Amino acid sequence: MVNQEIYDKVILKFNELYASKPEAVAYAPGRIEVLGNHTDYNEGYVFSAAIDKGTFFAASLAEDDKVEIFALDMNESWSGTLAEVSKIEEGATWANYPLGTFAWLFNGKPATAMKGFKAVLGGNVPLGAGLSSSASLEMATALALQKLYGTSYGRTELAKIGQKAEHTYAGCPCGLLDQASSMYGVEGGLVKSDFRTNEFESVTLGPLVAFMMVKSNAKHALVDGAYASRRQACEDAAKYFAGVLRKPVTHLRDVTMAEWVLYRGGLPETTAKRAVHPIGEDERVLQGAELLAKGDVKSFGALMYDSHESSRNWFENSCEELDAIVDAAKAIPEVYGARLSGGGFGGSCCLLVDPTAADKISTQIKKEYKAKFGDEPECSLIRPSAGASLL
Ligand code: GLA
Repeated sequence: MVNQEIYDKVILKFNELYASKPEAVAYAPGRIEVLGNHTDYNEGYVFSAAIDKGTFFAASLAEDDKVEIFALDMNESWSGTLAEVSKIEEGATWANYPLGTFAWLFNGKPATAMKGFKAVLGGNVPLGAGLSSSASLEMATALALQKLYGTSYGRTELAKIGQKAEHTYAGCPCGLLDQASSMYGVEGGLVKSDFRTNEFESVTLGPLVAFMMVKSNAKHALVDGAYASRRQACEDAAKYFAGVLRKPVTHLRDVTMAEWVLYRGGLPETTAKRAVHPIGEDERVLQGAELLAKGDVKSFGALMYDSHESSRNWFENSCEELDAIVDAAKAIPEVYGARLSGGGFGGSCCLLVDPTAADKISTQIKKEYKAKFGDEPECSLIRPSAGASLL
């Protein structure tokens, strides 16, 4: 089993706290975003992968209406009654993810006549690194609690439940990418998502390439408004295009690059800059799918570099640290592509690399990053992994 040592610790702790075995244990991975940035809430396309790091959630029903959750990594617990399940503003804010997920399994408000639950969670997705530690926690919670309470949601519905928890408990108006990638990940492959139809296809990569995550030390926080303002700009632009194009437009997914070029003049400059990013990303994902089908990994990598440039110049969701990583990567022949991964404004870059040169690549990138910022980024090869499961 992947991350067995964490599983063992979670079970041990559960036993120690509640003197019993958990009735349900689930595991859900984090994710990397490979191509298609900020396209999910624009109903567009994304290539992503579930990673080999994730979160375990072990739980049993309580005798009464008490909810008790212990977070191994924080060495902290949250407890309260069912009636007290609501957004936490201060203190154990990590509990917003499992509590929000629990609440939305029951339409936002668990009935107070239900039984509560006791749980232990633990994982190894680095926090604030843009690897969706929160989605991995939500999806593990969702699967484990679904088993305990006997609900019967499908994978996409559970992903949406996690997304609602983000919106209402964590305050981030995210799309569905993180939760869907955690749910639909495949061993050794990519997930190609269509966020209009919510279809998730797996695409195999072959053994000659791998992904390397380079975690900058710039903390990414998506709840401070920058993510929300980008999303708002995209929605404003979609409304504008719906008015000027003679075809139905509900999201930027419906707008082509040629249309943006022709009609951008009617938009405020910043809104136009924001809009072109997801429009270009959609085109790159579709082109990337054709390239992967032909086995042309190097050209796929070139699209990743283009994606980063688009983030840097148009969407302005990059930062000095991420730019430095991508610039360093470009000078290394064994790196085929590199871009920021996820929301942006810090976090990690995702590199497409020749795995046999991993040491050389990480040494070089660390060296250049250190010369600029004084500290070293973390580099690790990522094995695209299977999605969330009940154990
Ligand atoms: C974050 C969000 C996702 C997605 C990405 C950007 O990870 O949670 O929904 O919008 O940013 O592609």
